[in-house]
Amino acid sequence: MKKYTSINDIENIHQIVKEAIQLKKNPFEFENLGRHKTLVMLFFNSSLRTRLSTEKAAKNLGMQVMVLNVNDAWNLEFEDGTVMNLDTSEHVKEAAQVISQYADIIAVRAFPTLKDKQKDESEFVLNSFVKYASVPIVNMESATAHPLQSLADAITVEELKTTPKPKLVLSWAPHPKALPHAVANSFVEMMQELDVDFSITHPKGYELNPEITKDIPINYNQEEALKNADFVYVKNWSSYTDYGKIVSQDPNWMLTKKKLGAAKFMHCLPVRRNVVVEDAVLDSSNSVVIHQANNRTYAAQIVLKKILENA
Ligand code: CP
Repeated sequence: MKKYTSINDIENIHQIVKEAIQLKKNPFEFENLGRHKTLVMLFFNSSLRTRLSTEKAAKNLGMQVMVLNVNDAWNLEFEDGTVMNLDTSEHVKEAAQVISQYADIIAVRAFPTLKDKQKDESEFVLNSFVKYASVPIVNMESATAHPLQSLADAITVEELKTTPKPKLVLSWAPHPKALPHAVANSFVEMMQELDVDFSITHPKGYELNPEITKDIPINYNQEEALKNADFVYVKNWSSYTDYGKIVSQDPNWMLTKKKLGAAKFMHCLPVRRNVVVEDAVLDSSNSVVIHQANNRTYAAQIVLKKILENA
């Protein structure tokens, strides 16, 4: 693997999921692979799981890890040809090349503006690092994608499914803040690669990018959509058409134990209790969110392993 910016960088998803599950059984099997190699993780935004699980994954492979909260460093410029006489102090052209002197792999987290759709879809932060760095880039959640999360989700489904072709439903839920589409996008892309019966439910106005959802069924009636589901993946996102706006906060879309039924509850975390999902779901044995969070390590580890093997 040369980089991991989207799930399209995975050659064979079934194979990588299988290998990740194997790695989970013996996480230190390849502890010499990353010896004398360094992962630099760049955070433009907050993180708990991605930060710790990716660092743990790298260390399981024997790598050294350096973390930079980019907002503590020089303010970066991304536009080409700008006269830099305002707030930005360093161009990403130099920054990416300099960081490449210290890193064998660079991982980047950079959320969208949710104001400028075109700019966000250009993935200007992530793609600037892809363009100017001289080492492989890993996406730790960008403007439009969270492929490490969706790989962990695929591992979780594979481990916990009880039928060969489980029914999975991605359900929108209310949230007080306008949130990105990245987790939902990558989950939808990943589900199209797996042998699952997949559908999406959300209120009208929350349609995701149709280039990503393609012909996946969308049901505007949540209770109807969730019937007989094996897994319910809950996530909030802001409007894609009315870009970055909250067009509904209908509390009736919160996931309740009654609506979940016997299904397993998935969420990428962090989650707002009793807004997105009620306590009774999160505190029940149907919730697999901690299992999912644990799998973030093995998703990151298999990706770093594949990149190190390609070096
Ligand atoms: N799910 C996820 O990416 O969590 P963090 O934002 O805490 O990294």
